Amino acid sequence: MANWTADLRVGNPVVDEDHGRLAFLINELTETVAARRSDRVMCDLLEELLAFAGEHFCREEQMMRRARFAGMARHKQQHDELLKELRLLVRAVGSGHRRVDEETLDWLRGWMAGHVRGADREMAAFLRGEGATVDMSTVA
Ligand SMILES: [Fe+2]
Repeated sequence: MANWTADLRVGNPVVDEDHGRLAFLINELTETVAARRSDRVMCDLLEELLAFAGEHFCREEQMMRRARFAGMARHKQQHDELLKELRLLVRAVGSGHRRVDEETLDWLRGWMAGHVRGADREMAAFLRGEGATVDMSTVA
C-alpha cells in the first residue's frame, strides 16, 4: 500500500487531514501484523482506529448536515456499516476469537479506498459547490 494518502486526497483540508491519520493507523496495524505483535497490542490499535474513525465520521456528517447535502443518509449508512464491522472485529480480537491477518487488512484498506474515492469525493465536491445534487427544499 504505497503512499495511498496522496492518491486518496479529496481536496478538503479537514477531511484530508483526518484521512491521513486513518491511513497512519492502518499502516501501524499493518506493521503490527507483519511484526507478529501480541493480540493486546493489536487490539489497542484497533480500538484507537475505531475511536478515531467514529470521530472522523461525525465530523464529515456534521459538514454534510450543515451543507444540507442530499446524499448524506446514503453516505452515513456506509460509515455506520464500517463502525459496526469494526466493533465486531475489536470484540472478536479482544476475546481471542480472531486475529488480524492480511485478509482483514485488505478489507480495511479496500473499504477506505472505495469509500474515499466514491462517497467522500462526492461529498467534498458538493461542499466546494461543485456537486450535481440539488437540494429541492431550496428550489422555489
Ligand atoms: Fe465518509
